[in-house]
Amino acid sequence: METSLLQLLHMGLLPMTVVMAADADPIYDFCVANLTSPIILNGLVCVNPATVTGSTFVFKGFETAGNTSNGLGSAVTPGFAGVNYPALNTQGLALARLDYAPAGLVPPHTHPRATEVIYLVKGELLVGFVDTNDKFYPAHLKTGDVFVFPRGLVHFQYNIGTTPAFAIAVLNSQNPGVQLIAPALFGATPPVEDAVLSKAFGIPPSEVEIIKKGFAA
Ligand SMILES: *[C@@H]1O[C@H](CO)[C@@H](O)[C@H](O)[C@H]1NC(C)=O
Ligand SMILES: *[C@@H]1O[C@H](CO)[C@@H](O)[C@H](O)[C@H]1NC(C)=O
Repeated sequence: METSLLQLLHMGLLPMTVVMAADADPIYDFCVANLTSPIILNGLVCVNPATVTGSTFVFKGFETAGNTSNGLGSAVTPGFAGVNYPALNTQGLALARLDYAPAGLVPPHTHPRATEVIYLVKGELLVGFVDTNDKFYPAHLKTGDVFVFPRGLVHFQYNIGTTPAFAIAVLNSQNPGVQLIAPALFGATPPVEDAVLSKAFGIPPSEVEIIKKGFAA
């Protein structure tokens, strides 16, 4: 006798929750976020549509390069509904401009709620992600190339060219979330115990302490 999905469900062998593959669908044509509203909900309160015009949908935040004079040699400029691009509210998208100095790195990180596509506008990048079997998928991108980082997987971008590089990223969530792997483990507050990190990484606690100093808040 075949076992139906319903029977499996009753036997507790299938999860009851449905996991959404993307943000919830919008129920208006648009809902330009009112960034001064104190109301908190799943998304952002809309402005009065009567105040919206064509120019409301224009975003100029990517016209200048981010400042890459920092330890990583990279800069991430957001185009986010809740930060600087309110017309993206409820549209299921977030954007970023990514700038890289030569040898600049956007370090290993994940976006728990989004797939990311990058378009390399200028330069040369080594990019890659690691899947849940620890297989590494590196690629060498040149100007004009596009690459997709699957949802939730650890990934990075590194400028292997001799000139500054920049890319535009599009993520399929209004609020993709970002978790940088190294600071999450070595710069957390309160700190993750040295014994845990020592065992996890196979290094003595003294070395854990040295790494932690690099991520001290
Ligand atoms: C945004 O919300 C504030 C606070 O509720 C309100 O005073 C203001 O009129 C709203 N702005 C628009 C353009 O709807
Ligand atoms: C870039 O950042 C560095 C370090 O914070 C700062 O010294 C420099 O003035 C900044 N440059 C620009 C053009 O803002």
